[in-house]
Amino acid sequence: MTPFDVYPLWPVEPVKAQGCYVYDANSARYLDFYGGHAVISIGHTHPHYVKRVTEQLNTVAFYSNAVQNSLQTQLADKLGKISGYTSYSLFLCNSGAEANENAIKLASFHTGKKKVLAFGRAFHGRTSGAVAATDNPKIVSPFNVTPNIEFVPLNNIAAVKAQLQSNEFCAVIIEGIQGVGGVIMPDDEFLRDLRALCTQHSACLIVDEIQSGYGRTGKFFAHQWAGIAPDLITTAKGMGNGFPIGGLLISPAFKAVHGMLGTTFGGNRLACAAALAVLEVFESENLLENAKSMGQLLMGELRNILEIKELRGRGLMIGIELTSLASETRNKLLFAQKVFTGASGTHTIRLLPPLCISNQQVDEFMVAFKKSLS
Ligand SMILES: Cc1ncc(COP(=O)(O)O)c(C=O)c1O
Repeated sequence: MTPFDVYPLWPVEPVKAQGCYVYDANSARYLDFYGGHAVISIGHTHPHYVKRVTEQLNTVAFYSNAVQNSLQTQLADKLGKISGYTSYSLFLCNSGAEANENAIKLASFHTGKKKVLAFGRAFHGRTSGAVAATDNPKIVSPFNVTPNIEFVPLNNIAAVKAQLQSNEFCAVIIEGIQGVGGVIMPDDEFLRDLRALCTQHSACLIVDEIQSGYGRTGKFFAHQWAGIAPDLITTAKGMGNGFPIGGLLISPAFKAVHGMLGTTFGGNRLACAAALAVLEVFESENLLENAKSMGQLLMGELRNILEIKELRGRGLMIGIELTSLASETRNKLLFAQKVFTGASGTHTIRLLPPLCISNQQVDEFMVAFKKSLS
């Protein structure tokens, strides 16, 4: 048997990783400015993370959600405090798509309605409901197509209003900042108006913070820059620093009923230990502040580069739209300069480095980036 060939692969295999660097079998060192799709938040193989997950593995690696698991309680408490959502509750699952799937389901249970409003260029994952709310027909199978999803353009409040007037929507789902779509920001004012319209039409506001959350923009969640509180918030990626875990933060308006949501692996002990270690490092290393200041430094440096058509993003979620093809610069960055970056479409480079990057690593990136433009 061989792996099902669905991923276009770079000819690089990391065999070791530490902090903001990965190494191949020839000991070549790569600066990681992509974090494996925004997953590496506290840095690769952080000693506290390795210790906590190892200790858990040596204690009890797994038991189901039919017994007490105080690690879930500790994680909910810590995440509530660090994110500012102390009155919300937490449902744990294994991935981003699953978090969105559960958010849509809960919104539908709660309101008794079945339509969902999503936005042009959105990406919410590949499971049934999440992919139906994703604006990419290539990854939506005939089975996933549903009349229950409508799309409107981002930042167009009149289009949202026109849809919600039917009062048929259980939810509006929006990314804190669109990631796969090319680091496209919803305006703060648009988010505030959206919040008000959802309340007015009894639709739950789901903010997908799977890529934009967990400190990436310098606040715990990107939507907090707009000062709004969603009904449901979804997280994954940076939450486990590579250990698969997703979460759904649920406002106190929702009533839990035994059996309404469930999962075998979600919230397992290893995942909770990993997620607790991540939040402990957030606190001890002040990573929110670091993401904000390193983001400002990086943006400031990038603004001086003439070949950049547009710079988008906040903190350490940065989209660099080039006048030339992004693939040419990315290839040079990877093969000649040994720097990992991401892409979106044909002209945008996406930067999603670990939140612990230093001044020196920003400088290192800038030297490599300038060399890769010519
Ligand atoms: C905004 C957003 N939502 C959902 C997902 C899906 O997450 P997962 O791949 O963990 O299912 C992603 C993944 O890139 C994402 O960026």
